[in-house]
Amino acid sequence: MSPRCRPRWRAWRAGWPNVPEPERPPTPLPGGIRVRRARLDDAAALAQIMGHPWVAPQLLQPPLVNEEAWKARLAETLAPGKSDLLLVAEVQRDGDRWAVVGNAGLHPASAAVRRRHVMGLGISVLPDVQRRGVGRALMQALCDYADRWGQVLRIELAVYTDNVAAIALYRGFGFEVEGCHRGYALRDGEYVDALAMARLHPHPPRIGSSEGA
Ligand SMILES: CC(C)(COP(=O)(O)OP(=O)(O)OC[C@H]1O[C@@H](n2cnc3c(N)ncnc32)[C@H](O)[C@@H]1OP(=O)(O)O)[C@@H](O)C(=O)NCCC(=O)NCCS
Repeated sequence: MSPRCRPRWRAWRAGWPNVPEPERPPTPLPGGIRVRRARLDDAAALAQIMGHPWVAPQLLQPPLVNEEAWKARLAETLAPGKSDLLLVAEVQRDGDRWAVVGNAGLHPASAAVRRRHVMGLGISVLPDVQRRGVGRALMQALCDYADRWGQVLRIELAVYTDNVAAIALYRGFGFEVEGCHRGYALRDGEYVDALAMARLHPHPPRIGSSEGA
């Protein structure tokens, strides 16, 4: 572990640094937030969100994402028999028109039988509606699915060490820092470190646990 990386992830494990407060209080979205499964016709919206210049650098997306690439990816991910869960969040724009502004997914972490209980997580929200509850709504839906329906015992992810917003969001849902990947990905010409974070099912269900209830 590099001297640069070690203190940072140790500090995160200890709960430091404090997450900065937003410059202005978050304003609620007037019509609320709807979360639903993604559809093939969400390709354009997903390309817009994941390709946004303020969002893409925080992900592992290749640059120049386009709608066609997302159509192909959605067709693969949403095919029958796949265990991926891909959700989108909609809010009201221009009056009462609902528009997709965020997405989140759980994807099998490995093809190995012995890691069937593990899924990887990804999430992104358009910058103009960030810090208004969209990410939280998506995370809540993903964790509910994982805990109550999806047979998921461990959710894992990697997040760049400078992504304060995402790290705070994950910590709020019980994710803990497990380590630091050095030089995890190339981002705009620079190799950047990422924290390994994971959340274990808080109360794994057991067969027979509801007897006598
Ligand atoms: C991370 C991300 C998904 C959060 O989505 P969001 O809709 O802004 O999040 P919410 O408004 O629901 O905020 C939920 C919590 O996350 C944390 N959070 C979100 N934005 C934050 C910020 N700018 N600074 C500090 N904490 C932040 C807070 O704990 C917040 O709770 P609070 O508002 O009660 O304090 C969003 O910033 C994003 O899409 N970033 C770019 C893509 C990305 O980084 N994806 C993750 C890759 S690992």
